[in-house]
Amino acid sequence: MSTLVVEGSQWGDEGKGKITDYLAQEADVVVRSQGGNNAGHTIVINNEKFALRSIPSGIFNPRIKNILANGMVINPKQLLEELHGLEARGIKDYKLYISNRAHIVLPYHETLDGAYEDYKGSRKIGTTKHGIGPCYSDKANRIGIRIGEFVNEEEFKECLTNTLSIKNMELKMLGLPEVSVDEIFNEYKEYAKEISKFVCDTSLLIEEELEKGSKILFEGAQGVMLCIDHGTYPYVTSSSPTGAAVPLNCGIAPKYINNVLGICKAYTTRVGSGPFPTEIDGDLANYIRERGHEYGTVTKRPRRIGWLDCVTLNYARRVSGINYLSIMLLDVLTGLDEIKICYEYDLDGKALNTVPATLKELEKVTPKYITLKGWKEDITQVKSFDELPENAKIYIRKIEELTKAEVAIFSVGPDRSQTIKLKELF
Ligand code: GDP
Ligand code: IMO
Ligand code: MG
Repeated sequence: MSTLVVEGSQWGDEGKGKITDYLAQEADVVVRSQGGNNAGHTIVINNEKFALRSIPSGIFNPRIKNILANGMVINPKQLLEELHGLEARGIKDYKLYISNRAHIVLPYHETLDGAYEDYKGSRKIGTTKHGIGPCYSDKANRIGIRIGEFVNEEEFKECLTNTLSIKNMELKMLGLPEVSVDEIFNEYKEYAKEISKFVCDTSLLIEEELEKGSKILFEGAQGVMLCIDHGTYPYVTSSSPTGAAVPLNCGIAPKYINNVLGICKAYTTRVGSGPFPTEIDGDLANYIRERGHEYGTVTKRPRRIGWLDCVTLNYARRVSGINYLSIMLLDVLTGLDEIKICYEYDLDGKALNTVPATLKELEKVTPKYITLKGWKEDITQVKSFDELPENAKIYIRKIEELTKAEVAIFSVGPDRSQTIKLKELF
């Protein structure tokens, strides 16, 4: 038995897709456990670029079982578009399984996501507007529709009728047009027909694989600082991207989660609103943004840029169970004279080594930095730790010291081949 959770340890877009695809060469199963098409996971194989949204990053390997587990919210229309897009690019031989307990995202979720953002005005979250929050709200409010019901026409119609009797009140209250059961039903029943062949009880399937001794990768979406429980609430997503949430979101026992690999950039980025203590701007931020192509995969928004924040990383390690790190986009920092790492916050004159719970406090913290020397050598072709310039080695060792997590992988470019593994993880 061998499992590994690949999770974002910052605010998302750390390179989870790249590392999942890389490690998937050795895996039998890849599972997405939460989130939906708010995720955008970029994978580059032999210079060809793919951006996955809801589909696990094991899809390129015909041997791998790719599972969308119960903790996900799935937009059936988008999922099929994504699948057809992959098929059009020659990815036709794949294995896909969808949990009958996952919830579905329907058009009114997207409408409500946009409407709540508009209503919030300057307090808006900066969501992806893909209906993720409203869909998870319906799940918690027990008016959501699950894949199991969705793929049975009669049950789908019944659920939709019940749900819309409530959702239409909400839409009306917000001054939005009401939605007709028939309109959605007639369009979506066709998607349901196409999806039904993938639907099963994925908890049973994962247990079977665990019992066989298969190697299973759990591919996180978003990142710990966007966690509904532990992130910078309310500027978060509506699920928990932590390793701790994987058993619940997949229907397996917690004992199966042995190792959690936190994916983290060599610096920090964030899209959307909310506190970001180590944020930088001006020429330095632009230098990093352009070298790292830091524009959202999903929304194309320029990502906000900051120095590596080891207070949040250490916090992410604690709340989500990270024991290894994968340092991504190290090549982007090449050329800088100096590189800073935040090792502590100052809050009202006192040293703070954790992320405060309230927004007011988090907005007030001042990061304290260690300044390290940069390197000028091109590192994009480096194949081992020893080949790195001395200052890059010192940078990696400093991260380990500050986060108490061992660096198991580092990455020097977007391609699968630009990945250096320092430790066997599973
Ligand atoms: P994810 O959501 O965590 O899968 O990350 P995204 O795909 O949204 O964003 C990560 C971006 O960094 C993508 O454009 C990747 O192709 C790119 N990337 C990943 N690793 C590296 C790296 O080591 N160097 C460079 N230059 N780009 C990388
Ligand atoms: P991957 O998996 C980066 C952010 C949004 C917004 C907040 C809430 O590619 O790392 P939501 O649409 O989820 O209600 O938006 O969360 N967000 C992400 N940021 N990467 C992601 O996914 C994200 N998914 C959501 O920008 O700030
Ligand atoms: Mg992304």
